Amino acid sequence: MITERVKELVSEIDNAVVTSKEQLESFRLKYISKKGVVTELFDNLKNIAPEDRRAVGQELNTLKNLAQSKFQEFSAALENSADANPEMLIDLTLPVTPNLQGSLHPLTIVRRRIIEIFERMGFNVSYGPEIEKDWYNFSALNFADNHPAREMQDTFFISKSEGDVKDDVLLRTHTSNVQVRLMERQKPPIRSIMPGRVFRNEAISARAHCVFHQVEGLYVDKNVSFKDLKDTLYHFAKEMFGKDSTIRLRPSYFPFTEPSAEIDVSCFICKGKGCNVCKYTGWVEIAGSGMVDPNVLTNCGIDSEEYTGFAFGMGIERITMLRYGINDLRLFTENDVRFLRQFEGA
Ligand code: DAH
Repeated sequence: MITERVKELVSEIDNAVVTSKEQLESFRLKYISKKGVVTELFDNLKNIAPEDRRAVGQELNTLKNLAQSKFQEFSAALENSADANPEMLIDLTLPVTPNLQGSLHPLTIVRRRIIEIFERMGFNVSYGPEIEKDWYNFSALNFADNHPAREMQDTFFISKSEGDVKDDVLLRTHTSNVQVRLMERQKPPIRSIMPGRVFRNEAISARAHCVFHQVEGLYVDKNVSFKDLKDTLYHFAKEMFGKDSTIRLRPSYFPFTEPSAEIDVSCFICKGKGCNVCKYTGWVEIAGSGMVDPNVLTNCGIDSEEYTGFAFGMGIERITMLRYGINDLRLFTENDVRFLRQFEGA
């Protein structure tokens, strides 16, 4: 009888399948624990006829050893399984998943660089409104009433005034409006740069856009001279385009500066030899500049006998295109990631 039962248990244990901790625990409870079937059979030995006891006892020992070695086998297998060791699921030979990072827009990179260079020269940063009154965008800056830049083809007007009084509201056409706002509220010394977005009624093409960015610069104090302007922009060119760069000034005209000059930087692509970026002249134009016209100082409540100043304005798109060899303005606003990704880590 008991021998039959032992045989049954041996085959049960031989065929047992254990794939989880729960199954291992049931196996232990059933065959190994003090309340399990094997112990129960041992307890029954006393009811066996004394002459059979030895043989049955041996069978039970074999059963007990089988149960124990199976248990050890199962628990070892479970311990080495991926369930128990999740790190075994990681394939260390796989290539690293690329960590997709955003990147700064090239205009942001260049704007920050420009700001950084001027901040180190003692300039602070000022901002002004994009929707502006005629006074700040034109009149205070000495634009004559009939200046062509006031005409509809250049300026986006929001509201036009009736009659002679110029109180039009418009989208600023340059960042020079911030100069006026700054001088109106702050007495010299003023040393500030003014980055911002500007608007002009232009057809969009590779070389022109109706929305673009400028950085304005203004330095007003006692005894500010044209030499200060030259030195400041010379230093800027070296920092921005490399220490071999130099600048040249060409006479120009702006209503708000007298004298006025266009600033060219030596072509850092061909090093002055001539290429298609500099149109084979060896120079590229980067800014307009000049000594602040005394009329502008007066318009802003600053004594033009006591103070002088210089100002400049540069296009951020232009400098970015030169720096990175970009040949189409529209790329800046199309948000094509194939373009933008090229500035990762720049
Ligand atoms: N406002 C001019 C423009 O948009 C740029 C400029 C020229 C700014 C000369 C200045 C300056 O401050 O002095 O074309």
